[in-house]
Amino acid sequence: MRVVVNAAISADGKLSTRERRQVDISGPADFERVDELRAESDAVMVGVGTVVADDPSLTIDGEERRERRREAGRSEQPARVVADSRIRTPSDAAVLDDTAESHLLVSETAPTDFVQQMEEEGATVITAGENRVDLPAALEQLESRGVDQLLVEGGGEIIYSLFESDLVDRLSVFVGPVVIGGRDAPTLADGDGFVDEFPALRLAEVRRIDDGVLLVYEVPDE
Ligand SMILES: NC(=O)c1ccc[n+]([C@@H]2O[C@H](COP(=O)([O-])OP(=O)(O)OC[C@H]3O[C@@H](n4cnc5c(N)ncnc54)[C@H](OP(=O)(O)O)[C@@H]3O)[C@@H](O)[C@H]2O)c1
Repeated sequence: MRVVVNAAISADGKLSTRERRQVDISGPADFERVDELRAESDAVMVGVGTVVADDPSLTIDGEERRERRREAGRSEQPARVVADSRIRTPSDAAVLDDTAESHLLVSETAPTDFVQQMEEEGATVITAGENRVDLPAALEQLESRGVDQLLVEGGGEIIYSLFESDLVDRLSVFVGPVVIGGRDAPTLADGDGFVDEFPALRLAEVRRIDDGVLLVYEVPDE
């Protein structure tokens, strides 16, 4: 499986405000770029923190892109995936609506009645890990369900964990023309932070988009 991480950060490296409120970082051309990335992917994943904060739908907007997928014999929309150990995803979350398939990655501590409720909402529940989602095992299960390219759209906790488990193949970051600030505001990679060994990246592309810069990195195999 190829794992592509994409996020938009402020010029000072933040994903959102200290209150975890979404900020318009990208412009229209960057939205188109992300829509195209979704169209190329089999599934789009976020952590439950992003679902709770932003309630994203994670679907392709452009009609032509959906049409292209249909013509290629693919589903019109990529599947949505939420890493959600104990099931905090609200039952009326946009990622659970019927525009696309939904997968919830949960841990063994997820309450069975919540699992049942999510299945009733039409979501597929994948269990991996004791207390928290075991990402390598969960992604393996997604791959066995036909996910060859997984696009991860944040937030900072899940992105850190993916780097920690050495699962990221490509990272694209749009750096927008705004300063958000705040020592407690989420950044691109939060978690506990690396201490002495840091994932190395290879810069593959730099492009000006709207009033910002797109940085694309490949993550070389160790
Ligand atoms: N600018 C952007 O491109 C962008 C994109 C996305 C999000 N955001 C912003 O980012 C913020 C949300 O980010 P966030 O870091 O709080 O949340 P997040 O990364 O979306 O979700 C984190 C949650 O995922 C769950 N999780 C399950 N398995 C995990 C694992 N193995 N490792 C890490 N987490 C795991 C954890 O909750 P459980 O323990 O309950 O499972 C964890 O708290 C929001 O403010 C949103 O607006 C910005």
